Amino acid sequence: MRQECFLVTGCAGFIGRHILRRLLADGHSVRGIDDFSTSDRKTRKELPRNFEFIEGSLCDPEKAAAAISGIDRVIHLASIPSVPRSLENPRESAMSSVIGTVTLLDAAARSGVRRIVQASSSSVYGDSPVLPRIESDSPRPLSPYAAAKLAQEQYASVFAKCRGLDSVSLRYFNVFGPGQNPNGPYAAVVPKFIRLMAGGKRPEIYGDGNQTRDFTHVDDVAAATIGASLVSRPLRGETINIGSGKGRSLNELATCLNEILGTCLEPVYARPRPGDVRNSLADIAKAERLLGYLPSVPFREGLERTVASMFGKKGKSGKFSV
Ligand SMILES: NC(=O)c1ccc[n+]([C@@H]2O[C@H](COP(=O)([O-])OP(=O)(O)OC[C@H]3O[C@@H](n4cnc5c(N)ncnc54)[C@H](O)[C@@H]3O)[C@@H](O)[C@H]2O)c1
Repeated sequence: MRQECFLVTGCAGFIGRHILRRLLADGHSVRGIDDFSTSDRKTRKELPRNFEFIEGSLCDPEKAAAAISGIDRVIHLASIPSVPRSLENPRESAMSSVIGTVTLLDAAARSGVRRIVQASSSSVYGDSPVLPRIESDSPRPLSPYAAAKLAQEQYASVFAKCRGLDSVSLRYFNVFGPGQNPNGPYAAVVPKFIRLMAGGKRPEIYGDGNQTRDFTHVDDVAAATIGASLVSRPLRGETINIGSGKGRSLNELATCLNEILGTCLEPVYARPRPGDVRNSLADIAKAERLLGYLPSVPFREGLERTVASMFGKKGKSGKFSV
């Protein structure tokens, strides 16, 4: 395999750390940038040593230019990825996703980058009643986060047309796996439920629990993202779903975790949250056709690996690591 120079933005985050480790294991040269706006600065020392790290925000044109210099391929993950946080602070959400992306695209177009792969989100589909979600569906964002992700996609597509910058936006569907933060008000549902249930607490579900999500293991997301960055065909600002292609309800998630953890905890049901979509399921035919993507980690196995990574043999300490 040809070795390339990669930039990973948001490299200290959940998905970024998985991608970073894979790229380094494959022998690529990697630079990362992160401003620790959602990840913990203390985790800096847990990052691999054999890559170049820049601390700073992509919204700063000088940092973005320094980060992009000499780079062949960019994996752009930096963002504040939370629907409720974006409802509380839409400006912060737009700064991190939209301004950060435009600053990065402009720097990349000037510097001869070969391709940018950026993380978009299934949230751009919003409340469309049609399942599975196909890339040609009209987007119907329900939150500032989803609107910002859609804007990111459109900027990438415009830069492909006007500035010849090859790019692709991957619409990730509910990513989970080892290393996802289980704490705090914006924790994702899988690590949050594991933390609560392992501690003997009932998980809280917003709504009746029959809403579905396409839970996708982070190993599949990392493989798809790196694959998209290296595939030889031009991608010209395309958008592509990256999911498991299977829908699971939150009630099923709680049942499965009860089985894995050996608990018997009934969920507590609360009022649905604004901005949340009812059902989500990816059509992954385009990912298969253009990228050769096929998910490889089954839901239950992915949950078992996540639980093991959080507690391992040391007991239910709540410590997690990737
Ligand atoms: N986790 C999911 O289920 C999911 C689903 C759909 C899309 N995504 C997208 O995938 C990407 C990665 O998500 P994640 O779960 O790893 O999130 P994360 O919060 O763990 O990581 C994001 C990282 O980006 C950094 N960051 C944010 N704004 C920045 C800026 N302006 N400059 C530099 N660094 C900045 C944060 O400090 C953090 O380390 C995001 O773009 C997110 O929108 C994630």
